Amino acid sequence: MTLILTLTGCEVGWDRLLKYPLRGCLQDGEGMEYSRVGPWSEAKLRILKEYAKPYSTILKNQYGFSHAYIDAFAGAGWHVSRRTDEFVPGSPLNALLVEPPFDDYYFVDVNPRKVAALRELAGKRSDVHIYEGDSNRIVHNVIFPQVSYATRRRALCFLDPYGLHLDWRVIARAAGMRTIEIFLNLPTLDMNRSVLWTDPARAPDISKLA
Ligand SMILES: C[S@@+](CC[C@H](N)C(=O)[O-])C[C@H]1O[C@@H](n2cnc3c(N)ncnc32)[C@H](O)[C@@H]1O
Repeated sequence: MTLILTLTGCEVGWDRLLKYPLRGCLQDGEGMEYSRVGPWSEAKLRILKEYAKPYSTILKNQYGFSHAYIDAFAGAGWHVSRRTDEFVPGSPLNALLVEPPFDDYYFVDVNPRKVAALRELAGKRSDVHIYEGDSNRIVHNVIFPQVSYATRRRALCFLDPYGLHLDWRVIARAAGMRTIEIFLNLPTLDMNRSVLWTDPARAPDISKLA
C-alpha cells in the first residue's frame, strides 16, 4: 500500500524534513517498517525532543567535549499516528533534527526492515552509526565503550523497548560510566502483565529486570 505523506505536530520546516526519506510503503504484519503509534507515544516523543535540545545546547558549550545521541530501540525513524493517520517523526529523526546537532548518532534495532529504513534516513552521513541486532549486547559492548570518561565524550541514551527487552545490566553499566544520561521509557504494561505469570516459561524476559 502506498501512502501519501502528510505531517502534523511537527514544528520543523519541510525543507529540513524532506532530507529524510520514507521507504515509501507501509506494510502490515510482522516486519513492517512503520508502526502505528497512540497519543501516549507522541507525548513521549515530544518530551524527549524538549529534553534533547537543551541537553545538546549545554554540551555544545562545554569546551573540549563532544556529545552523542544513542537510540537503543530506535525503530524505523518514522511512525504513523493513530490519531491522524499521518506520518510523524520517530525518536531517531527527532534527534537528527535537534539544533545544535549532536556530534554522533548511534541507532540500534533488531528488526532488519527498520534498520533498512534507518539506513535510508541517514544516507551517507558519517556521523550516523547504525547497528542491527540485540541492543543489550551492542550498546553494552560496542557503543558505551566509545563514550568513555577519558575521551571527554558525553551521551544522551534513549531506551524505549516495547516490552521486557531491556537487560538491566545496560542501565548498571551506564551508571558506572559517569558519561551517560539515560532516558528510559519504562514498559510498565508488560511488566505488570508478566509479573502475574507463575510459570516462568510464559514470561521468559522477566529475569532481565531482576
Ligand atoms: C517502541 S519501538 C521504538 C520506537 C522509537 N524509539 C521511537 O520513539 O520512534 C521499540 C523498537 O525496539 C526494537 N527492539 C525490540 N527488541 C530489541 C532488541 N533486543 N534490540 C534492539 N531493538 C529491539 C523493535 O524492533 C522496535 O522497533
